Amino acid sequence: MNPVSATAKQTPVAPPCAMVIFGAGGDLTKRLVMPALYNLSCSGLLPKNFALIGVDLVEQDVETWLASLRDFLVGTFRKGGEGSEPGEVLNDAAWSHLTGTMSYLSGDFGKPETFQNLAHHLKDVDHRNGLGGNVLFYLAVAERFFGSTVEHLGQAGLTEEVGGAWRRVVIEKPFGHDLASAQALDKQVLAVLTEEQVYRIDHFLGKETVQNIMALRFANGLFEPIWNRDRIDHVQITVSETVGVERRGKFYESTGAMRDMVPNHVFQLLAMTAMEPPATFDADAIRAKKAEVFASMHPLELSDAVRGQYAPGTITGETVQGYRSEPDVSPESATETFVAMKLQIDNWRWAGVPFYLRTGKRMTKRKTEIAIRFKQAPFAMFRDTPVDSLGENWLIIQIQPEEGMKLRFNAKVPGPLLTFEKVAMSFNYDDWFKQAPATGYETLIFDVFIGDATLFQRADQLESAWKVVQPVLDSWAKPDPSFPNYAAGSAGPNASDELLQREGREWLPI
Ligand code: BG6
Repeated sequence: MNPVSATAKQTPVAPPCAMVIFGAGGDLTKRLVMPALYNLSCSGLLPKNFALIGVDLVEQDVETWLASLRDFLVGTFRKGGEGSEPGEVLNDAAWSHLTGTMSYLSGDFGKPETFQNLAHHLKDVDHRNGLGGNVLFYLAVAERFFGSTVEHLGQAGLTEEVGGAWRRVVIEKPFGHDLASAQALDKQVLAVLTEEQVYRIDHFLGKETVQNIMALRFANGLFEPIWNRDRIDHVQITVSETVGVERRGKFYESTGAMRDMVPNHVFQLLAMTAMEPPATFDADAIRAKKAEVFASMHPLELSDAVRGQYAPGTITGETVQGYRSEPDVSPESATETFVAMKLQIDNWRWAGVPFYLRTGKRMTKRKTEIAIRFKQAPFAMFRDTPVDSLGENWLIIQIQPEEGMKLRFNAKVPGPLLTFEKVAMSFNYDDWFKQAPATGYETLIFDVFIGDATLFQRADQLESAWKVVQPVLDSWAKPDPSFPNYAAGSAGPNASDELLQREGREWLPI
């Protein structure tokens, strides 16, 4: 794995702190949080004085926990898995810095004793390592524990910021299940913590290419003047995955594609694309502009939303089963694995410009991109030439797995006749930068260390996002009799194509 690219001169130094991971034995800790911490350690961005404390129900000693994390990391290197470099070997110094002061507490998140023990332990760890009382609590636990864990932290006096020390809590997604539960969770959390202490994580915001949308728009004089309803016909945001629900059938059955992806990841891409330029590059200014986008969105109408569920099919030559045959999924499941929708943002920049969004599992290809279609040039001057139509102009921001940007326009085909061909200019990250393969969590965790909330979701943003999708979630409580309605390996159900066709448009191929 590779360091986050930064130099000491440009980068603020993370202050001493303890990091407590609730859900230490879980998948998220192993797959993403620990590898990210290791990467930060490799790049010298981990606090100099640092102590990691794992908390989980499982009875085990710290050596066993540590060995399982190490084995996983080394296994990832061997397989060349996500966030690792080919042939990478464990950097012993970085690993020792990360794990040298590590400890493990077993305890039930539902019991006050767990938190009282933690409070004693933290005092001791802080004293031994000179951590200045700073603590980052990371809730890598199931959603149902978010609110109660924060309450227990409060009751054990662990969230009080005394003598300049900070206490911050990172909460994973899904933040609520719908508008009412997101509001209830916020109420519970904000009864204990201030908004400044809460870091609601959305890992899409840790992706370099997502952060680059702001650079593209606001660090160049080129795009912003044409970034509006005068010049843009519509926007398409696609997040297609080839994976199915894997081992997460139980979670996915009660979640579905809409809740899993839309008010969080997909809406973050939309907000980055649609937000107004902030006055300054600080968390409050940026988050306020994003919140305005959500507040200007019309609630989603049922006729503008499509849902789908995958049937068996073939993806890159491999036959895969349908959703209803996946482990822990009901054979009559009504859960959607695909959604497409048309959204409208009712403000001066975007009124009348449709934003079409789609996301789904088991689709043709893995691809996340934002495609901006510009309005057509007038045709009149080519009327008496062999040109019979003009190709479309697109700016395509490629988020993953391709990382870059493409601009598609018309060019004259060389020769005596006037004919046009669609051509493209491309920018690929790899051609310009030596990229650090990362899990996406590095930047986000580092930002919590230094108290920068820019890339985290604020309560009002999330609530407005839920408000947009809530009417459709309510209607979708009734099963769709056409399920399953798309073959694995396809671009989703026909209704998704029809959503655009009825307005004379079509999706770009996946
Ligand atoms: C997660 C969803 O938040 O994001 C998953 O729960 C989804 O269902 C994943 O597969 C996609 O993230 P990435 O980084 O792999 O595109």
